[in-house]
Amino acid sequence: MPLTINGHDHDFAGDPRTTLLDFLRRDCNLTGTKKGCDHGQCGACTVLVNGQRINACLTLAIMHDGESITTIEGLGTPDNLDPIQAAFVRHDGYQCGYCTPGQICSAKAMLAEAASNWPSFVSEDLSGAVRLTREEIRERMSGNLCRCGAYSNIVDAIVDVME
Ligand code: FES
Repeated sequence: MPLTINGHDHDFAGDPRTTLLDFLRRDCNLTGTKKGCDHGQCGACTVLVNGQRINACLTLAIMHDGESITTIEGLGTPDNLDPIQAAFVRHDGYQCGYCTPGQICSAKAMLAEAASNWPSFVSEDLSGAVRLTREEIRERMSGNLCRCGAYSNIVDAIVDVME
């Protein structure tokens, strides 16, 4: 069964030891997903699997037959950015940009997780809007490191999307 990556089917028939990260970057030419530590510690390789965030360096491509993968390339286009991408641009939520694809994928999943799994974080007017404090955002985004230290602007961007 093929993997679906950004809405397109991809057959995986390579070395079963191939990580999802290497498959995306090397075989699918989706180089927006970055390799930082390659050991599950930096979050640069974060992608969405069936809407949930995952470190692509810690999982094998062969394990995702039939699943839906979304990378940064699948979130938006230069002319039609995802709201989180647009917020990162507005707030300069980056410096060198290397961690940015992972940060954005992680933020996207975190906001969805917050809305569905943490009812106490949803506003009391039941509008469905997510209201996380800056501290909660930092905690929930702690798996994504930024060596430039752009954390304040990253949190600003996520707060903006919640409003
Ligand atoms: Fe996967 Fe760092 S490259 S967590």
